[in-house]
Amino acid sequence: MTLNCQPPEYSASELQTLLTRYHSKPHALVQILRELQAVHGWLPRPALSQIAQSLGLTLAHVEGVASFYRFFHTQPVGDYRVLFSDNITDRMLGSQALLQDLCQRLKVVPGQIRTDGRVSVTTTSCTGLCDQGPALLVNHRQVVTRLTPGRIEHLAALIEQQTPVDRWPLEWSRVDDQIRLADVKLGDQPTPGQSLTCARARGPLAMLDEVKRAKLRGRGGAGYATGTKWQLCRHAQGQTHYVVCNADEGEPGTFKDRVLLTKCADAVIEGMTIAALVVGASEGLIYLRGEYRYLLDHLHVVLQRRRDQGLLGKAIQGQAGFDFDISIHIGAGAYVCGEESALIESLEGKRGTPRIRPPFPVERGYLGQPTTVNNVETFCAVTHIALHGAAWWLGIGTPQSTGTKVHSVSGDCERPGIYEYPFGTRIGRILEDCGAHDTQAVQVGGPSGVCLSASEFGRRIGFEDVPTAGAFMIFDRTRDMFEVARNFAHFFAHESCGFCTPCRVGTELVVRRLDKLQRGHGSSQDLDELFELDKLMHGATHCGLGAAACNPLRDTIAKFRPAYERHLKSLHFVPGFDLDAELSQARLATARDDAGAHLETMT
Ligand SMILES: Cc1cc2nc3c(=O)[nH]c(=O)nc-3n(C[C@H](O)[C@H](O)[C@H](O)COP(=O)(O)O)c2cc1C
Ligand code: SF4
Repeated sequence: MTLNCQPPEYSASELQTLLTRYHSKPHALVQILRELQAVHGWLPRPALSQIAQSLGLTLAHVEGVASFYRFFHTQPVGDYRVLFSDNITDRMLGSQALLQDLCQRLKVVPGQIRTDGRVSVTTTSCTGLCDQGPALLVNHRQVVTRLTPGRIEHLAALIEQQTPVDRWPLEWSRVDDQIRLADVKLGDQPTPGQSLTCARARGPLAMLDEVKRAKLRGRGGAGYATGTKWQLCRHAQGQTHYVVCNADEGEPGTFKDRVLLTKCADAVIEGMTIAALVVGASEGLIYLRGEYRYLLDHLHVVLQRRRDQGLLGKAIQGQAGFDFDISIHIGAGAYVCGEESALIESLEGKRGTPRIRPPFPVERGYLGQPTTVNNVETFCAVTHIALHGAAWWLGIGTPQSTGTKVHSVSGDCERPGIYEYPFGTRIGRILEDCGAHDTQAVQVGGPSGVCLSASEFGRRIGFEDVPTAGAFMIFDRTRDMFEVARNFAHFFAHESCGFCTPCRVGTELVVRRLDKLQRGHGSSQDLDELFELDKLMHGATHCGLGAAACNPLRDTIAKFRPAYERHLKSLHFVPGFDLDAELSQARLATARDDAGAHLETMT
């Protein structure tokens, strides 16, 4: 095995073969970088230069893209790049102690490459395995689930022996679906092609009408009406139309799309094909998050089988002119790329910076053409609507939230996993079903969602009450809700793309305040300032990431204030602690921060 700190060993001719395979198209840049790195471990500058030349881009542009994505490395990172999933649920399962243990065994400082260039160990945002954590990712390719001290000891030994990752015990990378409760989407699967036959029999316009009458709303978070989106896309002018499946699933605590893509890939792809029929698209793309790279082979098998069955490709189901095929694009570790316009930028081989809207993707999306972006679960729902009809779908759920919702349940409960319920289900019912006891709080919809306290467990899942993108994280009374909020604040600061000042600076200031409180150096003034930051950021950020970044903070301060006050009170118990001096230090730091923010605003 070669050490990654050696001088770059990439072969220019191999790289040229790769570039030729992608027809030297600039919008394939992210995929080219990903494939190059998969072979060489990192991205040497001469290779970036060759890519720039071949794609007709500047080196600065290529380097800018390479530096944007966390899974790309322009410096050596070790033959074994170990990334611990750092969601709060991983932490609750002991991930921090396991990371320390691994670092000690390997004699490596977290976040740094070992001097022999063999290994680096650090953290990454949630890897979507919260129901079988703690989890880690090796070389952006292979997951290890259900970590234990014994597994860590063995893993350290394998790294020291330089055992290739694909020879590690198979059991370690087992990912279970853990479907605990199935309803229409996760239950019996339609025969491939059945729903498409129904959709074609209706015709594109009547199928569009069916989706509208079913009142289907997107499952990716915003809840936009799918029929309206498709109608806008269908009517938009363009040379070609695109259908994009958003499988980025980066919201911490969310893993339902992972299971839908595993268990119901046909239904998802059939939903995309029905969308293509309705909007008149000939090309589809699945944007699969980098953390789910291990699903790639499975998805390719399903796509090929459908081509062989005449369900993708030219003249689908024998219908002349109905041509549609799908390719898969793999992300590279950037949560913001789940935002649909950032996702399109990434598909086009650029940094995942959200676009200024309007124009919306339905008018000018991928390569400037009309594009509908929908969530994995939304496409799955379409397949069932096409088969059973709008009237049947309307009979499930509530008047404003029709059909079912799939939930990723994790945290303090006996049976974490996947649960599908009709909209309108009580929070308390979900807690009972998954075996949660003495629950203090539930974070519904991930850090961007809402934190509910026990008095709210009678509320119901649905757009009219508690909307959700699918995460359901449970915290019992032993948990410190301040630490939960702090973990989420770090997540947002880490994932801010840095494009706009209120988010870039605001998320960082929130983290600083919370870290200060955690160290026991905070004052009630810091709490007031956190409220101020929330207000400032809410209306001023460019995309939904910044707008939602203070949600957990606002909810937890309002509903679990004693958790924060405990950290303030600790001021009085630190031996030899000078409260007044600390407070004036804190004010000084605050003033410095504010000046910094002010300066940032002026730049
Ligand atoms: C920061 C951010 C991250 C997002 N991540 C996702 C995601 O991982 N998956 C998803 O389907 N939608 C995500 N969205 C919402 C998408 O922008 C978009 O609304 C959605 O893909 C539309 O699909 P739908 O209409 O089927 O819900 C995200 C939005 C924001 C602001
Ligand atoms: S709000 Fe944050 S993530 Fe969104 S564009 Fe601004 S800096 Fe980037």
